[in-house]
Amino acid sequence: MLRVSYLASILLALLSFLYYHNLKPMPSLAAARAFNLAHVPTSYTPTAIFVGGTSGIGQGMAEAFARHTKGNASIILVGRNKAAAEAIIATFPKPTAPDVKHEFVECDITLMKNARRVAGELQARIPRINFLVLSPGVLTLDGRNETEEGIDRKLAVHYYGRWRFIRELLPSVEAAHAAGEDAKVMTVLAAGHGGAIDLDDLGLKKTFSLPNAARAAPTYNDIMVNDLAARYPGISFIHSYPGGVNTGLLKSSNSAALRYSRFLTPILSPFLYTVESAGEYQLHSLLKAGPGASRSNQRGEDIGLKTAYFGSEEAMKRLWKHTEEETAR
Ligand SMILES: NC(=O)c1ccc[n+]([C@@H]2O[C@H](COP(=O)([O-])OP(=O)(O)OC[C@H]3O[C@@H](n4cnc5c(N)ncnc54)[C@H](OP(=O)(O)O)[C@@H]3O)[C@@H](O)[C@H]2O)c1
Ligand SMILES: *[C@@H]1O[C@H](CO)[C@@H](O)[C@H](O)[C@H]1NC(C)=O
Ligand SMILES: *[C@@H]1O[C@H](CO)[C@@H](O)[C@H](O)[C@H]1NC(C)=O
Repeated sequence: MLRVSYLASILLALLSFLYYHNLKPMPSLAAARAFNLAHVPTSYTPTAIFVGGTSGIGQGMAEAFARHTKGNASIILVGRNKAAAEAIIATFPKPTAPDVKHEFVECDITLMKNARRVAGELQARIPRINFLVLSPGVLTLDGRNETEEGIDRKLAVHYYGRWRFIRELLPSVEAAHAAGEDAKVMTVLAAGHGGAIDLDDLGLKKTFSLPNAARAAPTYNDIMVNDLAARYPGISFIHSYPGGVNTGLLKSSNSAALRYSRFLTPILSPFLYTVESAGEYQLHSLLKAGPGASRSNQRGEDIGLKTAYFGSEEAMKRLWKHTEEETAR
């Protein structure tokens, strides 16, 4: 019963939130699309990696990118679902530039050893990476659920795995920057929607709860982009919030209550972005971002550090050290 009323209040909050947030997207979808078409690289053939590109927002971004580059881009979809990736790739315009491929690379990033291995292999064979987008996500009502590496599964997918993936691939992103090409890293989660974190319990080993995890993951991502931008000047690091998007997130939840709540999406859908529109808007945020750190909202506006930023110099230092240790095991 508790779960039902909990869910009902979440849904109500969600409805009013979506109404307020998604109703008047700016710029218009047509403007975002035109911007994207005008700003995908044309002077060189770009390489883009979408971790979480097998569904939802990552899929929408990869599809928009493939369309605007007319297939003339190396595009790699990383995730677990090979069949989904192949179906998506089949819709891409076929590349005509030489040595250009669209491919799927399997990786379950819940485990850091997978993130290290797969990202390491990609880094070794791809000399320059222009766009690295990370949007893997899970929706669950589980309490703390540790992997064999001692990291909570949800935090692993929303933060630790992303961090390690980025870290391994950075040499190739730096090489793209050094060659005068685009060099951009974007994590799609919930910029502007984090909360205060406990620096004495990073990873929530002692104080895990769903609300604490929901506050921590966006804040860790905020701190991550700011810290990386300070360490790797010239490269763009973006943490974005996509708004409410009608994706497979509910359907793939391991919570039956959340899975069934997807039947409410027809009611919600007027207030939700489609995968296609979210793909264009998020790609717009990526293509328009300048060097350094930025946090963008569902309309692609940079919200700076004024709204709900809970980082600090101290937090950066401690989270970096903690994450290096946690993701190295
Ligand atoms: N949809 C929304 O309304 C909304 C709102 C705010 C924030 N967000 C955030 O945006 C992100 C993307 O959400 P979405 O709605 O696009 O979700 P989605 O449609 O469910 O897609 C999630 C993606 O994550 C991948 N993934 C999940 N677990 C993985 C794992 N262990 N290893 C590798 N890949 C994994 C999935 O690929 P495989 O199945 O192939 O592994 C899939 O490509 C999430 O972090 C979500 O929290 C979404
Ligand atoms: C793709 O690139 C190739 C080689 O650079 C070029 O000949 C071709 O016109 C491009 N295709 C499109 C649709 O831009
Ligand atoms: C933890 O996650 C695993 C893998 O998703 C799942 O099989 C298991 O039921 C979960 N355990 C709990 C206690 O939620």
